[in-house]
Amino acid sequence: MSQKTIFITGGNRGIGRGLVQRLCHEHHVIFTSRKHIDDVPTGSTCLIMDVTHDSSIKEATRQLTEPIDILINNAGILPDYQTSALEADIEMIEHTFSTNTLGPLRVAKAIVPKMNEGGRIINISSGMGQLSDMGSGAIAYRLSKTSLNALTRVLHNELKAKHISVNCLCPGWVKTDMGGPNAHRSIEDSIENIVPLLFDESIQGGLFYRDTHVIDW
Ligand SMILES: NC(=O)c1ccc[n+]([C@@H]2O[C@H](COP(=O)([O-])OP(=O)(O)OC[C@H]3O[C@@H](n4cnc5c(N)ncnc54)[C@H](OP(=O)(O)O)[C@@H]3O)[C@@H](O)[C@H]2O)c1
Repeated sequence: MSQKTIFITGGNRGIGRGLVQRLCHEHHVIFTSRKHIDDVPTGSTCLIMDVTHDSSIKEATRQLTEPIDILINNAGILPDYQTSALEADIEMIEHTFSTNTLGPLRVAKAIVPKMNEGGRIINISSGMGQLSDMGSGAIAYRLSKTSLNALTRVLHNELKAKHISVNCLCPGWVKTDMGGPNAHRSIEDSIENIVPLLFDESIQGGLFYRDTHVIDW
């Protein structure tokens, strides 16, 4: 497999960090962190970026010196696991939307002009955004991920002409700060199911995946 340049948001911890560590030996990985970190893995580059601020994204992407093959919109928050829709604070919903939905859009606006033809965008979504399996609670998170799925479809259709495919995926319930200690999956197991979506030529675009299987919207 040829070496790719891969851009990952929120690569300082959790699933993003795991992806950086898994991919940096064979590829050039550029990842973002909101704060300076000392332990940048060999084969990777860290840029400071907050996905809720255009100026921060502009400053980070200004430093890119090579085209991007794969963009992974991973950064996300889950601030409201217990909150019901009617009790939810609107500002909290807006902030979650700005991070989980508009963040990937802001980053795509900055990165797509720097992407190679044949590139891929992977939006890390969640089963909690599936309309076909919609539960209750976590209203901000659910709305933001359902909208991220819609963004995935729209971007995929709009970027066909540039031969850039766009997918979203649910990584499963993963042991991270967000997923908590009772989650079913280790970060490593989750990542092994993400990697084929990045490189496998047979993967179709414009779809929602979990473990390389297409799942319902
Ligand atoms: N863990 C699960 O079970 C699970 C399940 C389904 C989907 N997901 C999705 O998987 C992705 C990664 O989740 P995770 O479990 O690895 O979460 P995590 O451990 O909480 O890590 C979240 C990452 O996102 C970054 N981030 C948050 N807000 C940001 C902002 N405004 N700008 C830039 N970066 C920001 C964090 O940076 P800081 O360190 O600066 O906060 C951190 O690097 C998320 O999109 C999440 O919704 C996770």
